[in-house]
Amino acid sequence: MQMKELVTFDDVLLVPLVSGVSSRKDTDTSANITKNIKLSVPIISANMDTVTEASMAITMARLGGVGAIHRFNTIENEVNDIIKVKREQNVIIDRPYSVSQDFTLRQLRDLIIEKNVTSFPVVDNRKLIGIITKRDFQFETNENKKISEMMTKDVISAKTGTSIEDAKKILNKSKIEKLPLVDTNGNLVGMITSKDIKISESYVSASKDRHGRLIVGGSIGIGSDYLQRTKAIVDAEADFIIVDVANGYLNKVAEVIKNVKKNFGIDVIAGNVATKEGVLNLKKAGADCVKIGIGPGGACLTRPVAGVGYPQLGAIMECANNGVCIIADGGITKSADFSKAIAAGADVAMIGGLFAGTDESPGSIVTKSNVNYKFYRGMASINAFADKSFKTNDAADLEGYTPEGTEMLVPYKGTVVKIVNNLVGGLKSAMTYLNSKNLAEFKKNARFVKLTEAGKKESKYL
Ligand code: XMP
Repeated sequence: MQMKELVTFDDVLLVPLVSGVSSRKDTDTSANITKNIKLSVPIISANMDTVTEASMAITMARLGGVGAIHRFNTIENEVNDIIKVKREQNVIIDRPYSVSQDFTLRQLRDLIIEKNVTSFPVVDNRKLIGIITKRDFQFETNENKKISEMMTKDVISAKTGTSIEDAKKILNKSKIEKLPLVDTNGNLVGMITSKDIKISESYVSASKDRHGRLIVGGSIGIGSDYLQRTKAIVDAEADFIIVDVANGYLNKVAEVIKNVKKNFGIDVIAGNVATKEGVLNLKKAGADCVKIGIGPGGACLTRPVAGVGYPQLGAIMECANNGVCIIADGGITKSADFSKAIAAGADVAMIGGLFAGTDESPGSIVTKSNVNYKFYRGMASINAFADKSFKTNDAADLEGYTPEGTEMLVPYKGTVVKIVNNLVGGLKSAMTYLNSKNLAEFKKNARFVKLTEAGKKESKYL
């Protein structure tokens, strides 16, 4: 039997070229994750329950990348995370949460916690009749007091269709922070807040949809509820869906892609595969982007358990240039891996473990011997499997389950922003070495050399 020998990240280095690109500032890292979605930073945070929920997805999109909400939760919880991302930094809020004047202060406080919003327009049916903000009740102690007795009645509003520039003038002149928008009948139809304008203007390269909202993806599996989950994700206006299965070679994965495309038309990312045959199979089924990676992930046990896998850099090289976007998924532990993955042909990189343990990843900090940690776990680990069964009321056979993922404590790392900045800094540096102003040039100019053991040592890879 003839056997291929394939390399992975630490086996190779990129070769420098005579370069006219003298500054990292002259490089453009933008890339398409699907035909319809372009990112200025080619990074997606992994749809894992210790990596991406709303907070991570918001930060990733603000930085110019994107986050994919995981599916190891109830449909309702997954969708709530998508809605949170869509409502964040939404300069014109389409359907603002509102309250009736008969609400009590107690009910209002519950709503503030539930919706994570501090001010509400007050409506009678749909008609705007006031606004209630923190200032109106900050010293109020009577929890039964009605909103009608506390609200600001002479509320300043603007007509729907008011431009952001005009809204800024009104907010400034009236010294207010929230501007409800009404239709010709005085019905509440939207709201603009000064906080959202400021945030939006401070993230110049954020990934946004055509309404100016942050981009976010949802995830589905191939279980019996996948159409129901897809519908809920599409209704929540996610920008794409990941058909998220460890083994993307299963016929069922192609079938799910076909059905999702046929019924919903949303952009579909699917995986995982690691060979050209696997990519072409998912492309044929209708995938707009294919995820590459069998077993390279930091919490993966597929290779030691099943003995199946494909060295990741070789997989990326084989899967690139097949007429469909690809995501390098797994095994990226430093900026050099990221640069090599993109140079080898990946459009975007998916990152899990490197983003775990940050402020933005789900879960709380655990302190051991005065050192702070957070949990990171593979989604095929025994506890992830047990938790999902518990959350979704799915009676699972834990005894008969062979885990293909592990779990670990990773050191607490602070905010993910600096990790993303380091990855992008490393990529930009590699682009200047390879005389490349953009990623198309970078891929074209990329040549690799294979390292000896001494070369690996010299490169600090051993
Ligand atoms: P990194 O290396 O960034 O990899 O942590 C993240 C990717 O790992 C995959 N993944 C798993 N693979 N068993 C596996 O074999 C698992 O339990 C598991 N959980 C996640 C997934 O592709 C993710 O994006």
